[in-house]
Amino acid sequence: MKRRTILGASFLALAMSTVAIAQSLPPLEQKERYKVGFPQMESNNPWRIAESKSFVDTAEACNWDLISTDAGGSAAKQVADVDSMIAQGIDVLFLPPREEKPLIPAVKKAAAAGIPTFLVDRSVDPNNAKAGVDYVSFLGSDFIDQGRRVAEWTIENFKGDKAVVVQLEGTTGSSPANDRKKGFDDAIAKDPRFTIVASQTGDFARDKGRQVMETVLQAHPDVDVVYAHNDEMAIGAIQALELAGRKPGEDVLIVSIDGTRDALQAIIDGKMGVTVESSPFFGPLACETMKRYAAGEEIEPWVQVKDRIFTQANAAENIKDAY
Ligand code: AHR
Repeated sequence: MKRRTILGASFLALAMSTVAIAQSLPPLEQKERYKVGFPQMESNNPWRIAESKSFVDTAEACNWDLISTDAGGSAAKQVADVDSMIAQGIDVLFLPPREEKPLIPAVKKAAAAGIPTFLVDRSVDPNNAKAGVDYVSFLGSDFIDQGRRVAEWTIENFKGDKAVVVQLEGTTGSSPANDRKKGFDDAIAKDPRFTIVASQTGDFARDKGRQVMETVLQAHPDVDVVYAHNDEMAIGAIQALELAGRKPGEDVLIVSIDGTRDALQAIIDGKMGVTVESSPFFGPLACETMKRYAAGEEIEPWVQVKDRIFTQANAAENIKDAY
């Protein structure tokens, strides 16, 4: 049951006036097994598949009865999946919200049903839902910092006098797309050599990244740098560039985020410059954080994941662990 603290002086005042009610987070009982909900947003790329597998692999070790779903790229379906999990009586919800705004009602509904919610990998609009109030905590990377690190690597490693930059954005309205754009745009603006001539969504998908790159190339055949918000779109862009007769890694620099196997291979092959890691392996962290919460520990609003950076210097030694 949800705990409510009623702030009010007298019974009379309570009965007669508007009462200020401060909500506290739903507690999590300590028990042997937990019914855990993990409503995945889509399964159309290696990152999502690795994240889902991480939850499945953790279920046994953490004594979870895991209920997982796949919203197939629809925020509305993801909201409905959360509804269904609430109806099935989950003890705890690990939610990767596809977009920042549409999932807020689902977060609030879980809280109202007394279910502690942890946001994993993506966040929601902080103006409308807050850690420590509407959900326990956000477990994930600093997406602004990822974009900034890509920009700083690009500034350091691009050798020309001026660069035409194309940006392939992630899913519109998602926290990684918003933040990776902000981090990159702010940092790259500090070097006058770089001009972003196009910034369009490829929805974090390889094929959409390829299609968008094909279209953008018609208006900007002279592109020097492609910054993709994830590796799948970067690989799609490489395909489009090669089809257009360009030589990724030689006459156009490709920079990206995630650290997938295909991206590390592209770095080893000399087609891609850098990928800043964004780890999908959230299962063990989810288990540990949930146990801390059940033990009554106060959880920090943001359990931050630290990310590495992969370049020619270390791609070969890390590809064996890539997904
Ligand atoms: O939320 C993290 C992002 O979502 C990953 O970078 C991307 O590949 C995935 O779809």
